[in-house]
Amino acid sequence: MTLSTNQDLDPIRLRQVFGSFPSGVVAVAAEVDGVVTGLAASSFTSVSLDPPLVAINLASTSKTWPDLRRARRLGLTVLAEHHAEVGRQLSGPVEHRFDGISITTTEEGAVILDEGVAFFDCAVYKEVDAGDHILVLLELHSAGHDLDETSAPLVFHRSGFTRLVGAPR
Ligand SMILES: Cc1cc2nc3c(=O)[nH]c(=O)nc-3n(C[C@H](O)[C@H](O)[C@H](O)COP(=O)(O)O)c2cc1C
Repeated sequence: MTLSTNQDLDPIRLRQVFGSFPSGVVAVAAEVDGVVTGLAASSFTSVSLDPPLVAINLASTSKTWPDLRRARRLGLTVLAEHHAEVGRQLSGPVEHRFDGISITTTEEGAVILDEGVAFFDCAVYKEVDAGDHILVLLELHSAGHDLDETSAPLVFHRSGFTRLVGAPR
């Protein structure tokens, strides 16, 4: 393996280095003023069991977050391996992000995608300024996952979608 060093931490090259770390992708979504609103995020991470917390990290330039953060509850859905197109759509033009996607909206306004491998129903716990991003801590109100655990997650790696090899089917 040949490692190339990025000594000047140039943002474009740094983004490529960050992209070496594979992750899942979540849909972050809620009904805000009667409109289903959301985006795709690969920055999801679990944080704490007690209290139950997760985090996402969003660009401070996001036009969607100022609306989403007003929602009483947010739905996070872990995308399944057949969701590559959904992942792209959820980061594309705002007015088409949920076209053709089957969703369920909870009474409190969290929006969950029906075919995800797991979901979290949560509320904003704390927002932390983090450079050009906002680190958003979310407190869970409920969570669930595919009961037979046969569905595999979508994987985001080096700016592209891939899947787990050898994932249980
Ligand atoms: C796979 C994938 C993962 C993404 N992850 C993030 C993320 O973690 N944080 C973020 O701010 N934007 C992320 N984006 C971009 C957002 O989905 C969205 O395009 C961006 O926030 C701009 O839209 P907005 O101005 O409506 O927020 C991701 C996009 C894709 C396709």
